[in-house]
Amino acid sequence: SSLYEKIGGDGAVNAAVDIFYRKVLKDDRIKHFFDGVDMDKQAAKQKAFLTMAFGGPHNYTGEDMRKGHAHLVKNGLNDSHFNAVMENLGATLKELNVPADLIAQAAAIAESTRNDVLGK
Ligand code: HEM
Repeated sequence: SSLYEKIGGDGAVNAAVDIFYRKVLKDDRIKHFFDGVDMDKQAAKQKAFLTMAFGGPHNYTGEDMRKGHAHLVKNGLNDSHFNAVMENLGATLKELNVPADLIAQAAAIAESTRNDVLGK
């Protein structure tokens, strides 16, 4: 079965969204990037983000990731912020008792978007 199914599918994504969202908005290194972002859009974004990281169905391309974060890159988004998001992702999955090898697979998928997200 897919990584998405192994981690727990839609139910696991929904549980992870809550925990991840709270971590990111508490994190002084990155929370300012979310100022003024619409809450509904935010929830959908978090869900899309985690679905992607779980290797599940998603509708985003690398080009979408580039466009979706271009305004943030203009405001200074860089590797250190990307690393902070990766850290929050790992901590979230650990909190949900996802096994380490599946966390590593999810991290690798998120990592594969780095250059697009950072506009490199
Ligand atoms: C938007 C995924 C990294 C901040 C989005 C969207 C997705 C996404 C799917 C929604 C795009 C749309 O439909 O408009 C990802 C993935 C990442 C990543 C897979 C790789 C780890 C980051 C990082 C930050 C960030 C490092 C900042 C620390 C945001 C913000 C939005 C957004 C603030 C909303 C932009 C807006 O609505 O104005 N991201 N993201 N993302 N992302 Fe990311």
